[in-house]
Amino acid sequence: MSIIENHKTDGEPFCDNPKLKARDVCVFYGEKQAIFDVSLDIGANEVIALIGPSGCGKSTFLRCLNRMNDTIDICNITGDILLDDENIYAPKVDVVPLRARVGMVFQKPNPFPKSIYDNIAYGPRIHGLVNHRDELDEVVERSLQRAGLWNEVKDRLHAPGTGLSGGQQQRLCIARTIAVDPEVILMDEPCSALDPIATAKIEELIDELRENYTIAIVTHSMQQAARVSQRTAYFHLGQLIEVNPTDMVFTTPQHALTEAYITGRFG
Ligand SMILES: Nc1ncnc2c1ncn2[C@@H]1O[C@H](COP(=O)(O)OP(=O)(O)O)[C@@H](O)[C@H]1O
Ligand SMILES: [Mg+2]
Repeated sequence: MSIIENHKTDGEPFCDNPKLKARDVCVFYGEKQAIFDVSLDIGANEVIALIGPSGCGKSTFLRCLNRMNDTIDICNITGDILLDDENIYAPKVDVVPLRARVGMVFQKPNPFPKSIYDNIAYGPRIHGLVNHRDELDEVVERSLQRAGLWNEVKDRLHAPGTGLSGGQQQRLCIARTIAVDPEVILMDEPCSALDPIATAKIEELIDELRENYTIAIVTHSMQQAARVSQRTAYFHLGQLIEVNPTDMVFTTPQHALTEAYITGRFG
Protein backbone atom coordinates (compact mmCIF):
# COMPACT_ATOMS: atom_id res chain seq x y z
CA MET A 1 0.00 0.00 0.00
CA SER A 2 1.19 3.48 -0.75
CA ILE A 3 1.26 5.99 2.08
CA ILE A 4 -1.20 8.34 0.45
CA GLU A 5 -4.02 6.04 -0.50
CA ASN A 6 -5.86 6.65 -3.76
CA HIS A 7 -4.12 9.91 -4.34
CA LYS A 8 -5.17 11.48 -7.61
CA THR A 9 -2.35 13.46 -9.20
CA ASP A 10 -2.78 17.20 -8.72
CA GLY A 11 -2.46 19.45 -11.77
CA GLU A 12 -2.67 18.23 -15.34
CA PRO A 13 -0.89 14.97 -16.19
CA PHE A 14 -2.26 14.95 -19.73
CA CYS A 15 -1.37 17.24 -22.62
CA ASP A 16 -2.66 18.21 -26.06
CA ASN A 17 0.05 16.70 -28.20
CA PRO A 18 1.39 13.65 -26.38
CA LYS A 19 4.34 11.73 -27.74
CA LEU A 20 4.44 9.21 -24.90
CA LYS A 21 1.57 8.23 -22.64
CA ALA A 22 1.96 6.31 -19.40
CA ARG A 23 -1.28 4.84 -18.07
CA ASP A 24 -1.76 3.28 -14.62
CA VAL A 25 1.85 2.23 -14.49
CA CYS A 26 2.93 0.17 -11.46
CA VAL A 27 6.46 -1.16 -11.05
CA PHE A 28 7.60 -3.89 -8.68
CA TYR A 29 11.06 -5.07 -7.70
CA GLY A 30 10.21 -8.57 -6.54
CA GLU A 31 7.54 -8.08 -3.86
CA LYS A 32 8.35 -4.44 -3.33
CA GLN A 33 6.29 -1.88 -5.22
CA ALA A 34 8.29 1.14 -6.42
CA ILE A 35 5.74 2.95 -8.64
CA PHE A 36 2.02 3.28 -7.87
CA ASP A 37 -0.52 3.86 -10.67
CA VAL A 38 1.27 6.60 -12.51
CA SER A 39 -0.46 8.17 -15.51
CA LEU A 40 1.37 10.91 -17.36
CA ASP A 41 1.68 12.31 -20.88
CA ILE A 42 4.98 13.53 -22.25
CA GLY A 43 4.27 16.07 -24.96
CA ALA A 44 5.96 16.36 -28.33
CA ASN A 45 8.77 18.92 -28.22
CA GLU A 46 8.49 19.49 -24.52
CA VAL A 47 11.06 19.09 -21.81
CA ILE A 48 9.45 17.57 -18.75
CA ALA A 49 11.42 17.43 -15.51
CA LEU A 50 10.91 14.59 -13.05
CA ILE A 51 11.80 15.64 -9.51
CA GLY A 52 11.43 14.30 -5.99
CA PRO A 53 13.38 12.95 -3.03
CA SER A 54 16.00 10.28 -3.53
CA GLY A 55 14.40 6.84 -3.86
CA CYS A 56 10.97 8.16 -4.90
CA GLY A 57 11.05 6.26 -8.21
CA LYS A 58 12.22 8.83 -10.78
CA SER A 59 14.79 6.54 -12.41
CA THR A 60 12.45 3.56 -12.21
CA PHE A 61 9.70 5.48 -13.98
CA LEU A 62 12.08 6.91 -16.59
CA ARG A 63 13.39 3.42 -17.38
CA CYS A 64 9.81 2.23 -18.07
CA LEU A 65 9.68 4.61 -21.02
CA ASN A 66 12.17 2.67 -23.13
CA ARG A 67 11.92 -0.71 -21.39
CA MET A 68 15.31 -0.33 -19.77
CA ASN A 69 13.77 -2.03 -16.71
CA ASP A 70 13.63 -5.22 -18.82
CA THR A 71 17.33 -5.58 -18.05
CA ILE A 72 16.56 -5.95 -14.30
CA ASP A 73 15.38 -9.54 -13.68
CA ILE A 74 13.24 -8.92 -10.61
CA CYS A 75 11.52 -5.89 -12.13
CA ASN A 76 7.89 -6.20 -13.24
CA ILE A 77 5.67 -3.57 -14.79
CA THR A 78 1.90 -3.33 -15.14
CA GLY A 79 -0.09 -0.69 -17.02
CA ASP A 80 0.63 0.72 -20.45
CA ILE A 81 3.22 2.92 -22.07
CA LEU A 82 2.22 4.19 -25.50
CA LEU A 83 4.63 5.75 -27.97
CA ASP A 84 2.63 7.46 -30.71
CA ASP A 85 -0.32 5.43 -29.41
CA GLU A 86 1.44 2.08 -29.78
CA ASN A 87 2.05 -0.03 -26.70
CA ILE A 88 5.80 -0.43 -26.30
CA TYR A 89 5.24 -3.53 -24.14
CA ALA A 90 3.30 -5.37 -26.89
CA PRO A 91 4.84 -8.80 -27.61
CA LYS A 92 5.79 -7.85 -31.17
CA VAL A 93 7.93 -4.89 -30.11
CA ASP A 94 11.68 -5.33 -30.56
CA VAL A 95 13.49 -3.40 -27.83
CA VAL A 96 16.57 -2.65 -29.94
CA PRO A 97 14.87 -0.26 -32.39
CA LEU A 98 12.63 0.94 -29.53
CA ARG A 99 15.70 2.09 -27.59
CA ALA A 100 16.94 3.91 -30.69
CA ARG A 101 13.59 5.73 -30.94
CA VAL A 102 13.61 6.42 -27.20
CA GLY A 103 17.26 7.04 -26.36
CA MET A 104 18.77 7.40 -22.92
CA VAL A 105 21.57 9.44 -21.38
CA PHE A 106 22.80 8.31 -17.97
CA GLN A 107 24.06 9.96 -14.84
CA LYS A 108 27.66 9.03 -15.37
CA PRO A 109 29.00 9.64 -18.90
CA ASN A 110 29.57 6.15 -20.34
CA PRO A 111 31.35 6.42 -23.69
CA PHE A 112 32.39 3.12 -25.27
CA PRO A 113 36.13 2.35 -25.04
CA LYS A 114 36.44 3.35 -28.69
CA SER A 115 37.37 6.44 -30.68
CA ILE A 116 35.17 9.53 -30.65
CA TYR A 117 34.21 8.70 -34.24
CA ASP A 118 33.31 5.10 -33.46
CA ASN A 119 31.28 6.07 -30.41
CA ILE A 120 28.94 7.96 -32.73
CA ALA A 121 29.20 5.60 -35.71
CA TYR A 122 28.35 2.47 -33.69
CA GLY A 123 24.57 2.99 -33.53
CA PRO A 124 24.01 4.00 -37.18
CA ARG A 125 26.12 0.98 -38.19
CA ILE A 126 24.25 -1.61 -36.13
CA HIS A 127 20.87 -0.15 -37.02
CA GLY A 128 21.81 -0.13 -40.70
CA LEU A 129 21.06 3.58 -41.06
CA VAL A 130 23.93 4.30 -43.47
CA ASN A 131 25.23 2.70 -46.65
CA HIS A 132 28.49 4.47 -47.35
CA ARG A 133 31.45 5.77 -45.44
CA ASP A 134 30.60 9.31 -46.64
CA GLU A 135 27.14 9.05 -45.17
CA LEU A 136 28.57 7.81 -41.90
CA ASP A 137 31.02 10.73 -41.82
CA GLU A 138 28.06 13.07 -42.28
CA VAL A 139 26.06 11.48 -39.47
CA VAL A 140 29.07 11.69 -37.16
CA GLU A 141 29.64 15.36 -37.97
CA ARG A 142 25.98 16.30 -37.73
CA SER A 143 25.50 14.49 -34.40
CA LEU A 144 28.58 16.12 -32.90
CA GLN A 145 27.42 19.51 -34.22
CA ARG A 146 24.00 19.09 -32.65
CA ALA A 147 25.55 18.06 -29.35
CA GLY A 148 27.74 21.18 -29.43
CA LEU A 149 30.97 19.16 -29.49
CA TRP A 150 32.13 19.28 -33.10
CA ASN A 151 34.49 22.24 -32.81
CA GLU A 152 36.21 20.75 -29.79
CA VAL A 153 36.84 17.32 -31.33
CA LYS A 154 36.92 17.69 -35.10
CA ASP A 155 40.72 17.46 -35.16
CA ARG A 156 40.88 14.33 -33.04
CA LEU A 157 37.99 12.13 -34.10
CA HIS A 158 40.14 9.03 -33.83
CA ALA A 159 41.28 9.70 -30.27
CA PRO A 160 39.56 7.67 -27.52
CA GLY A 161 36.22 9.03 -26.28
CA THR A 162 37.29 8.26 -22.74
CA GLY A 163 40.09 10.85 -23.06
CA LEU A 164 37.62 13.74 -23.13
CA SER A 165 36.65 15.79 -20.07
CA GLY A 166 33.53 14.72 -18.15
CA GLY A 167 31.37 17.39 -19.76
CA GLN A 168 32.67 16.54 -23.23
CA GLN A 169 32.04 12.84 -22.58
CA GLN A 170 28.45 13.59 -21.64
CA ARG A 171 27.99 15.61 -24.86
CA LEU A 172 29.56 12.68 -26.71
CA CYS A 173 26.94 10.41 -25.15
CA ILE A 174 24.22 12.84 -26.21
CA ALA A 175 25.70 12.89 -29.75
CA ARG A 176 25.70 9.08 -29.72
CA THR A 177 22.01 9.09 -28.76
CA ILE A 178 21.16 11.63 -31.47
CA ALA A 179 23.07 9.69 -34.15
CA VAL A 180 20.35 7.04 -34.41
CA ASP A 181 17.68 9.64 -35.00
CA PRO A 182 15.63 9.26 -31.81
CA GLU A 183 12.22 10.77 -31.22
CA VAL A 184 12.50 10.91 -27.45
CA ILE A 185 15.56 11.42 -25.25
CA LEU A 186 15.47 10.31 -21.62
CA MET A 187 18.08 11.83 -19.32
CA ASP A 188 18.71 10.55 -15.81
CA GLU A 189 20.53 13.25 -13.84
CA PRO A 190 22.79 13.94 -16.84
CA CYS A 191 24.73 16.70 -15.09
CA SER A 192 25.23 15.22 -11.66
CA ALA A 193 28.86 14.32 -12.40
CA LEU A 194 29.66 17.64 -14.11
CA ASP A 195 31.02 21.00 -13.01
CA PRO A 196 28.86 24.16 -13.34
CA ILE A 197 30.33 25.21 -16.72
CA ALA A 198 29.83 21.78 -18.28
CA THR A 199 26.35 21.71 -16.71
CA ALA A 200 25.46 25.06 -18.28
CA LYS A 201 26.50 23.74 -21.70
CA ILE A 202 24.31 20.65 -21.34
CA GLU A 203 21.38 22.78 -20.20
CA GLU A 204 21.75 25.06 -23.24
CA LEU A 205 21.88 22.00 -25.41
CA ILE A 206 18.70 20.54 -23.88
CA ASP A 207 16.89 23.75 -24.72
CA GLU A 208 18.07 23.57 -28.34
CA LEU A 209 17.26 19.87 -28.68
CA ARG A 210 13.65 20.47 -27.68
CA GLU A 211 12.98 21.78 -31.18
CA ASN A 212 13.50 18.32 -32.64
CA TYR A 213 12.99 15.90 -29.78
CA THR A 214 10.81 15.14 -26.80
CA ILE A 215 12.84 15.13 -23.60
CA ALA A 216 12.22 13.76 -20.11
CA ILE A 217 14.90 14.68 -17.60
CA VAL A 218 15.34 13.46 -14.04
CA THR A 219 17.12 16.01 -11.94
CA HIS A 220 17.82 16.54 -8.26
CA SER A 221 18.47 20.20 -8.99
CA MET A 222 15.38 22.33 -8.76
CA GLN A 223 17.25 25.19 -10.42
CA GLN A 224 17.98 22.92 -13.35
CA ALA A 225 14.34 21.83 -13.60
CA ALA A 226 13.33 25.49 -13.57
CA ARG A 227 15.87 26.40 -16.27
CA VAL A 228 15.26 23.62 -18.78
CA SER A 229 11.71 22.32 -18.47
CA GLN A 230 8.25 23.50 -19.42
CA ARG A 231 6.44 21.07 -17.11
CA THR A 232 7.56 19.49 -13.88
CA ALA A 233 6.33 16.26 -12.33
CA TYR A 234 6.83 15.75 -8.60
CA PHE A 235 7.17 12.16 -7.34
CA HIS A 236 6.95 11.04 -3.71
CA LEU A 237 7.36 7.44 -2.50
CA GLY A 238 6.48 6.06 -5.93
CA GLN A 239 3.44 8.22 -6.50
CA LEU A 240 3.07 11.04 -8.97
CA ILE A 241 1.87 13.77 -6.65
CA GLU A 242 1.66 16.78 -8.95
CA VAL A 243 2.32 17.80 -12.55
CA ASN A 244 2.08 21.40 -13.57
CA PRO A 245 3.81 24.06 -15.68
CA THR A 246 7.29 24.42 -14.20
CA ASP A 247 6.93 28.05 -13.06
CA MET A 248 3.75 27.10 -11.21
CA VAL A 249 5.36 24.13 -9.45
CA PHE A 250 8.12 26.39 -8.16
CA THR A 251 5.99 29.39 -7.22
CA THR A 252 2.52 28.09 -6.35
CA PRO A 253 2.66 24.31 -5.96
CA GLN A 254 -0.75 22.72 -5.48
CA HIS A 255 0.15 19.87 -3.17
CA ALA A 256 1.59 20.24 0.33
CA LEU A 257 4.23 17.58 -0.41
CA THR A 258 5.44 19.46 -3.49
CA GLU A 259 5.68 22.62 -1.45
CA ALA A 260 7.59 20.86 1.33
CA TYR A 261 10.08 19.55 -1.22
CA ILE A 262 10.65 22.78 -3.13
CA THR A 263 11.08 24.74 0.08
CA GLY A 264 13.74 22.27 1.12
CA ARG A 265 11.96 20.58 4.02
CA PHE A 266 13.09 17.20 2.69
CA GLY A 267 15.05 16.01 -0.23
N1 LIG B 1 17.49 -2.66 -9.29
C1 LIG B 1 16.71 -2.50 -8.22
N2 LIG B 1 16.40 -3.58 -7.43
C2 LIG B 1 15.61 -3.43 -6.33
N3 LIG B 1 15.09 -2.26 -5.93
C3 LIG B 1 15.38 -1.17 -6.66
C4 LIG B 1 16.20 -1.24 -7.84
N4 LIG B 1 16.30 0.02 -8.35
C5 LIG B 1 15.59 0.82 -7.54
N5 LIG B 1 15.03 0.12 -6.52
C6 LIG B 1 14.18 0.66 -5.44
O1 LIG B 1 13.07 1.33 -6.03
C7 LIG B 1 12.79 2.57 -5.36
C8 LIG B 1 12.91 3.72 -6.35
O2 LIG B 1 14.28 3.86 -6.73
P1 LIG B 1 14.77 4.81 -7.92
O3 LIG B 1 13.86 4.66 -9.06
O4 LIG B 1 16.19 4.54 -8.13
O5 LIG B 1 14.55 6.25 -7.24
P2 LIG B 1 15.15 7.68 -7.61
O6 LIG B 1 15.70 7.61 -9.02
O7 LIG B 1 14.00 8.62 -7.46
O8 LIG B 1 16.21 7.97 -6.59
C9 LIG B 1 13.79 2.64 -4.22
O9 LIG B 1 13.15 2.14 -3.06
C10 LIG B 1 14.91 1.73 -4.65
O10 LIG B 1 15.56 1.17 -3.54
MG1 LIG C 1 17.62 7.91 -9.74
